[in-house]
Amino acid sequence: MLERSDLAENALQALHDEDYDRPFNLQNLNAETMIFTGGRQGRSLDGDWNFCVDLLDTGLRQKWFAMTPAAPGDRIEPWDYDPYAGETVPVPSCWQMLKEKWYFFEGSGWYTRALDLAPLQDGRRRFLRIGAAQYDCKVFLNGEFLGNHYGGSTPFFVELTGAADPGEAWLTLCVENRRTLDRVPMRNTDWFNYGGVYREVTLYETPATVIRDVFLRLEGGAIRCSLRVDGPATTARLSIPGLGVDCDAALTDGAAELTLDATPALWSPQSPTLYDVTVEAGGDRVTDRVGFRTIERRGTDIVLNGRPIFLRGISVHEDDAETGKVTSEADLRRRFADARDLGCNFLRLAHYPHHERAALIADELGLLLWEEVPVYWAIDFANPATLRDASNQLTELIRRDRNRASVVIWSVGNENPDTDARLDFMRGLADLARAEDPTRLIAAACLINHQKLKIEDRLAAHLDVIGINEYYGWYEEDFDDLEAIGRNSAPDRPVVISETGADGDHEAGPETGLFSLDYQAEVYRRQIATLRRLDYVKGMSPWILYDFRVERRQNVFQRGWNRKGLVAADKSTRKPAFDILAAYYRERAQQEET
Ligand code: GCU
Repeated sequence: MLERSDLAENALQALHDEDYDRPFNLQNLNAETMIFTGGRQGRSLDGDWNFCVDLLDTGLRQKWFAMTPAAPGDRIEPWDYDPYAGETVPVPSCWQMLKEKWYFFEGSGWYTRALDLAPLQDGRRRFLRIGAAQYDCKVFLNGEFLGNHYGGSTPFFVELTGAADPGEAWLTLCVENRRTLDRVPMRNTDWFNYGGVYREVTLYETPATVIRDVFLRLEGGAIRCSLRVDGPATTARLSIPGLGVDCDAALTDGAAELTLDATPALWSPQSPTLYDVTVEAGGDRVTDRVGFRTIERRGTDIVLNGRPIFLRGISVHEDDAETGKVTSEADLRRRFADARDLGCNFLRLAHYPHHERAALIADELGLLLWEEVPVYWAIDFANPATLRDASNQLTELIRRDRNRASVVIWSVGNENPDTDARLDFMRGLADLARAEDPTRLIAAACLINHQKLKIEDRLAAHLDVIGINEYYGWYEEDFDDLEAIGRNSAPDRPVVISETGADGDHEAGPETGLFSLDYQAEVYRRQIATLRRLDYVKGMSPWILYDFRVERRQNVFQRGWNRKGLVAADKSTRKPAFDILAAYYRERAQQEET
């Protein structure tokens, strides 16, 4: 029979409440709630979750998350969705890749699964880690809202300790990927707007004391270690057997700073030496494998371990024809193998934080990385909420990856208009990055003043490396202008060509002219002929290794993809421009060896 629960009464009222989502936007799951996970044995929650798309946020309005399990026939009110029944999707995944009818879906997706929670002994604690969810992820446990996270490419944590009685619980995630002006990125991007829980979900248990952060680096000629511990411990123990380090540190308010007198073998592309590290405190124990090196700028040079280097790079998106933004270890190793074949020592991971596996594997292989937050194009720079979002994503990225020797550059953005609000916003991000990590170079992809043929971006004075996206031969015409920019600008710090390139469609491209493979190859020849004369350029990461999916590219050659890849979307068909760039990089590498 029909009955009315108090929830059902609200459902009627919710139809008239356009402020329905305000209570669910705390953004309390952020950089401050991260824990260090290296070496922890977690329990994977990947696999099939109940799932439903929700275009109008009916789920928040009707409070689907508050429903309790019941046989469909026992329901006492006509809900519009039952989170405990119906279809499932695999986690991790992007919903666009699962069904044709979800390809362009932008809205909320509801994920629900059972979770058996064993009793926690002796004050032990429980944390849920979500590797990434695009874009806003609200977390509910047994109908209680625990918080939400903004940002589509950084991990976040929810402490579940005490949030539910032992036994079977129900975990619900509401992931919303709408494009808005006040987010990072905002509503207009040149990459596909995926949605969903697309990186791994893991449950961790810790003692009452949890090690939240370990930051190890070579700084001022010594190894420095910063620890943050949350819980009753008063000392921590750091050991690096390969360096004969095994020492205790007193914790003051849960923090400790150590300076170690050790001389590690330096990590480099030629010799990617990594040291096993263990940190223990209050019964908690984490590990990592860390390489020690220095990266700095000296005048207009980029200097690795005291030697100037040229960054022979390529840009990459996190995108796949089959899986969308889901990245596997095999996908990453293929990416790095192709970059190696190109002669790269460097990759620009554009335009957002990639899977943490990328930097872990690059550490092993000896590849240098530019990592970036998606402060992309016309962000709402005057909006404090946008700055809060960008600052948090940058802090989460740095705290996730700052033990990775392969990461040498933090980039605070890409191609942003040079306004006063933007200058304040991005100078603030550069300052934040240096405060979180004084040992790496700060960059951004800046704009050129094409009328004056000059690098005039006011942000450049606050960066260590000036990225320049230039498309002579594609969006701009005269290659000689590129040389003029060097003469007119006389940059006092290193410049990296963070993007250059052209589309080439190997399937339907014309024989000659725009979008032909020949034209793409010719642009690379002309670019290389020009760039080899510009000694102010200290590196390049042409756009881009693989063709990638994007909604706005709809001409007959693009067909929903940006075709500037040196390799087609199948990630195996190489285009002629690949060999042209590879030949140049071989030449540069030989020069460096002599
Ligand atoms: C811009 C932008 C890229 C974009 C590229 C292009 O420079 O930074 O994200 O994909 O140009 O137009 O292909």
